[in-house]
Amino acid sequence: MSWWQEAVVYQVYVRSFADGDGDGVGDLPGITSRLPYLRDLGVDALWITPFYSSPQKDHGYDVADYTEVDPLFGTLADADALIARAHELGLRVIVDLVPNHTSDQHEWFQAALAAPPGSPERARYLFRDGKGRGGSKPPNNWDSIFGGPAWTRITEPGSSGGKPGQWYLHLFDTSQPDLDWRNPEVGDMFEGVLRFWLDRGVDGFRVDVAHGLFKEESLRDQNRSDLAESPTGSMVERVLRDEPMWEQPEVHDVYRRWRKVLDEYGDARGDRIGVAEAWTQTPESMADFVRPDELHQAFNFGWLATHWSARDFADVINSSIAALATAHASPPTWVLSNHDVVRHPTRYGGGAVGLARARAATLVMLALPGSAYLYQGEELGIEQVDVPPEARQDPSWFRTGEPGRDGCRVPLPWDGTAPPYGFGPGGTQPWIPQPDDWADLTVAAQSVDETSTLAFYRRALAARNTWVRGNGMACVAEAKRNVLVLRRGEVTVLLNAGQRSVAMPEGEVLISSGPVGDRLPANTAVWLRT
Ligand code: NOJ
Repeated sequence: MSWWQEAVVYQVYVRSFADGDGDGVGDLPGITSRLPYLRDLGVDALWITPFYSSPQKDHGYDVADYTEVDPLFGTLADADALIARAHELGLRVIVDLVPNHTSDQHEWFQAALAAPPGSPERARYLFRDGKGRGGSKPPNNWDSIFGGPAWTRITEPGSSGGKPGQWYLHLFDTSQPDLDWRNPEVGDMFEGVLRFWLDRGVDGFRVDVAHGLFKEESLRDQNRSDLAESPTGSMVERVLRDEPMWEQPEVHDVYRRWRKVLDEYGDARGDRIGVAEAWTQTPESMADFVRPDELHQAFNFGWLATHWSARDFADVINSSIAALATAHASPPTWVLSNHDVVRHPTRYGGGAVGLARARAATLVMLALPGSAYLYQGEELGIEQVDVPPEARQDPSWFRTGEPGRDGCRVPLPWDGTAPPYGFGPGGTQPWIPQPDDWADLTVAAQSVDETSTLAFYRRALAARNTWVRGNGMACVAEAKRNVLVLRRGEVTVLLNAGQRSVAMPEGEVLISSGPVGDRLPANTAVWLRT
């Protein structure tokens, strides 16, 4: 079994994990100083969000230079030191790769703006003439994920200077122009980027927008008549939408090429891996990204999106495992939170009930076959924060007026009783304000409380190593009324998703997500040796 097949990977959102230099923004030396915390928590690897040169319009997902560290986060020497220290502590390091788009400050895009229509410089991106009189309308009807049209019109340079000209595609912010992956220069550039970081010793890449690199070549309009919700509301039976911008078959050749590069670097430390951030429409198309000659893992967002329901949990577990088995693909992954979604205690209702459910869902996740991803702060039971409008920084907030993702990105509380809770030296307030009532949630406070969520995560990760790892991939989940039941080897896992306690079967309690006695309370999960 390779290390990644059962790994627990901890996501570090670099701006918000730990600030080493006291400027209020997390950085690489800050992460390095806290690596012993991650080792003691019991994770196997960390995935670090982008720390490359970037104007930070989308907090690093707008990369201006893929082989430089942004001074906000440190230097290349800091990256080397982080990787070396992690390896010393037995932790693997996964970095983020952003191949769908660059920053508009990338030298390629600046060259494209300065060059005429039809030039090789423009051909690295998706520049098109507009529709309508004088080309004043966007080339097609696609929307940006961050709201508004996915096209921005430029002003042409040179002799026609000052005149509105072509449009370029950006599926995200206007500052994130999409690359044209049909141009071989793009693939060659990214192979170089992979090799650059592999040569520095990283253990893998999380691939941003992995389902988006290729667009249907015609760039035709999207048919919007089928944007209806699933009739049952179930995540498992979603209505297939017309999406000419996502999941095009050509994208898989990119991952076949990358797999060969990754395989070249495998050594005594083990495989180098790729994990796809692919928001696919079905579990079957998720499985395509992890066929034996493609990437190693794909985030299983179906699990994250499932409502609090024993039946829905069982459905998504069984359908994910079945889809991967049919494609002879890699073992599954499981994830409940990340830097783009509302934190799971809040999604499950918030307050004491939300936290109890979050701990229960986490305990189930850690028993499932395959690999699990944790998002920084979930081990502290942190909820989504209602960030005041004047402090919001997410580009989607600026484009839509919706609160956006800042609420799951609030810097971590390490110690102390008031902001910045030890986030960095010198008492500088962090880049997003922390709530005033986090004193009981700090790492220091929870480390001395056996009932804390942090203590629970430490116990659960240790229990996973003892009871679950190495139990093979077999797992069948079922819903018995409101109780999810699954078996892994000699461990039986129960989660009570109903409103009332239920009788507990015979067996030795190995770990539970909350207090249990003869009965299993609502919103609680348990591992039993039966
Ligand atoms: C997915 C990343 O997780 C998200 O934070 C980012 O805004 C988009 N991709 C665009 O890169």
